[in-house]
Parts: sequence; C-alpha cells; structure tokens
Amino acid sequence: MRILSGVQSSGRLHIGNYYGALRQFVQLQDQGEAYYFIANYHALTTVRDPKLALDLTRDAALTYLSLGLDPKRAVLFRQSDVKEVLELNWILGTVVPQAHLERAHSYKDKIARGISPDFGLYAYPVLMSADILLYSADQVPVGKDQIQHIEFARDWAVKFNTQYVPGYDPADPEGKERGHAPGILKLPSAFVQENAATVPGIDGQKMSKSYGNTLELFGDEKDIKKRIMSIKTDSTPVDAPKPTVDAPLYDLLKLMLPPGEFSDVDASWKAGGKGYGDFKKKLLEAFHVTFGPARQRRQELLNDPGELERILQDGAQRARAEATRLMDQVRRAVGIP
Ligand code: TRP
Repeated sequence: MRILSGVQSSGRLHIGNYYGALRQFVQLQDQGEAYYFIANYHALTTVRDPKLALDLTRDAALTYLSLGLDPKRAVLFRQSDVKEVLELNWILGTVVPQAHLERAHSYKDKIARGISPDFGLYAYPVLMSADILLYSADQVPVGKDQIQHIEFARDWAVKFNTQYVPGYDPADPEGKERGHAPGILKLPSAFVQENAATVPGIDGQKMSKSYGNTLELFGDEKDIKKRIMSIKTDSTPVDAPKPTVDAPLYDLLKLMLPPGEFSDVDASWKAGGKGYGDFKKKLLEAFHVTFGPARQRRQELLNDPGELERILQDGAQRARAEATRLMDQVRRAVGIP
C-alpha cells in the first residue's frame, strides 16, 4: 500500500499541524510505503517573498525529520524537485470540469475570508490531484477539510482513464474482469485518521496560522512561554472547580500530557484549589517534555545543512523514478511525443 501526503510550506508548523497530521504521518511510515512531500508550489499561493518561501520549505523538511520521519523508510521530497507534476497538472486540467473547481470548499472559504481569487488558488485542487496521481497513491492521510480534494482526484482520474485508456470500465477501475483494462491513473482514497485531533488555539478557536493563535513547534522558548501564559481562561476563582467546556487550557493539557499524568491534573481541575497559572506551568512543562527531543534533533540538522540537502535529493530521486514511469504512460496515452 502506498501512502502519500503533503504539507504546504506557508508558515511555521505548530502543534495543531503535529496532532492533526504530522504525528500520524510519522506513525504511518511503518504501515506502508510512505511518500511525504513539502508542497512548495502550493505555498506560492500565499507566500510572495522568495527568501521566506525558501526558508519555510527548508523549515518544513526539518520539522518532518526532527519529529521522527525516517528518510530511509519514507520518501521525503520537495514538490518542486519533481517537475513532472507540472506536466501532469496541465494534462489533468484538460479533463477537469470548471464547475468542480467552482464548488471547491477550500477555494470558496478562502475567497470568503477576503483572499483575492487568482488562477493559482482556483487551480489548487488540480495540482493537488496531480501530486497524488503522479505517485499512484492508494491512501492519502488528510484532515477533513481536504476530503473534497481527494474526491476530485478520484473523479478526474476516472475521467482521464475513461477518455484515454481503451477497454477501461469505470465500474472496474483496476481492470480485474476479462476484457477490461486497468486505468493509468490509480484511484486514491482519503484516509481520515481517527486519532487526528482538532487542536484549540490559545484563544479557544481552532489553532490556525491565519488566526495568529498558535503554539509553534519550534518557536522561541520565551515566546512559547508567553503564549502559554496567555491562553484564554475565565474568571473562576482559585478555590472553585474549573469548567471543562470552552476551556482551551484543559483541552491542551489533555492532548499533551501522558494519560496517567492527565488523570491527576483532571482530578485537581475538577476539585478546585489550584489556579489557572499552575495549570499553565504544567502545560509548559509538558510542551518541553514532548517536543524537547525533537528540538534537539532539529538543532543537529541545522548544524549540518549538507545532510538535509542530501536527504531531500535522495527523496527527489526516488520520487522522480515513479513520476517518470507514470508520465511515460500518460504522454503515450494522450499523444504527446
Ligand atoms: N492541501 C494540503 C494542505 O493544505 C497540502 C497538499 C498539497 C496535499 N498537495 C497534497 C496533501 C497532496 C495531500 C496530498 O494541507
């Protein structure tokens, strides 16, 4: 089974990215052949500063590796190192109905938030589908907000195969029955993980870079402390039991503490007698225990930039081997010499 996913390098990664996605990516590398990439072409839809674009791409790679992604098992690469994706993007685009793009949730959300519509944003799902189809991925671990994009990838793969593969039957996409041909583009499935958590930000809304309410995984230590100390709480007196709903501090403690330790904290939260400041200190400790080792690995990698580049080049080479194989078939099918 081939697993593939990407993160868009449009900001520093935060603990919402970790508990919502990266943690599972690292676990999944043991369950199949994993391809993980840094979607740095996609990032250009929001990052317009070249230095920052380069820096965030490198930062995302460092983050994957320091959190335990093993480049010997998983293929880790930069989207832009395999140019075939742009060719597939175009060819696939010729079978994409405009109506699909117009009803894309994430596009509509972005427009609703005041981002001005441009071609990159509009065509985002096509490039994302090319990412997936280029590597014949079976499973794509994603958050709920990306499910529609995976459905598009399936639909468009079927359209392409129906158009270009003689003997292809959409009811038998793998060509298992006699007289049917398998498709060139494999149909992927979204893999929405059970243990993927939605992480509250320090203001209680969903943690998101665009809300400015994040705890960065590798943020400056002073800044992390300041942010944890400013997590939104109510005015429940020290002695009183604390509420457990609409309480981002409680949710974050639950997420970050080992279950045994959390049950003690939970008991004292509900009993009263401790102030929010104490619980915040506990959270800060948990943050350092959880991410301290990764922080150290990140520092080691930072001290050896050649090593990071070697890992990425090796990943690109392995990814490109797959991409070349698929694009040969695609070109032949459509009539591009
Ligand atoms: N759209 C994804 C996100 O915002 C990033 C992404 C780009 C991706 N291409 C992909 C995810 C292909 C999975 C597969 O997080």
